[in-house]
Amino acid sequence: MKHKIAPSLLSADFSRLKEEIEKVTEAGADILHLDIMDGHFVPNLTFGIPVIEAICKVAKIPLDAHLMVTNPDVYIESLAKMGVKYFSFHAEAVFHSHRLLQKIKGCGMKAGIALNPGTSIMSIIDLLPEVDFVLVMTVNPGFGGQKFIDFCLDKVRFLDNYRKEKGLCYEIEIDGGVHSDNIKAVVDAGTDIVVAGSYVFHSDNYREAIMSLKRSSGKEV
Ligand code: DX5
Ligand code: ZN
Repeated sequence: MKHKIAPSLLSADFSRLKEEIEKVTEAGADILHLDIMDGHFVPNLTFGIPVIEAICKVAKIPLDAHLMVTNPDVYIESLAKMGVKYFSFHAEAVFHSHRLLQKIKGCGMKAGIALNPGTSIMSIIDLLPEVDFVLVMTVNPGFGGQKFIDFCLDKVRFLDNYRKEKGLCYEIEIDGGVHSDNIKAVVDAGTDIVVAGSYVFHSDNYREAIMSLKRSSGKEV
């Protein structure tokens, strides 16, 4: 199955958000990744509900909300109403992952669990039959433009084998440090959704950047 490219708005020019969203959409982005940070779970702060609402009104492709916050619960209903399609929260941030997954799915969104590089896949193994996707962080969350952490790809390989073995159908998303030099390894490991922030938004040509991520895998664009 062909992988999807999800540019992260974190590296876009925040003073021209509408234009950036339209540009990256025309350039071939499949999904738009929204990094929601609270300055508490991670040492950075991005956008809250009013800005997400404005983004939703402009975006014409599915939105993927990555909640790097200590209280993702309070965002579920409002983001679902705005039309967000993918909603992931961090396993490290919450006490009741299973309850949250049910609530997210109950609101009509795809429910995902995100894992920091230092968190073992074993911590969520019992939840895998319940999730729609797993977001494997390949950098420590909080900032764009960091270096890809190689050992995280072992988690992707494990998740890919595990779903085949158990007949599960969750998607695998990776986030952080992706560029044309490592996209092949990322896709070969079994990734379905590839987040790319600085590689796309700091390039001179968004279309070329996105196409290089689709092409570099050696699979058809
Ligand atoms: C980091 C974010 C990522 C980030 C990726 O906390 O979750 O989505 O924007 O940016 P790059 O691709 O520049 O590493
Ligand atoms: Zn992210």
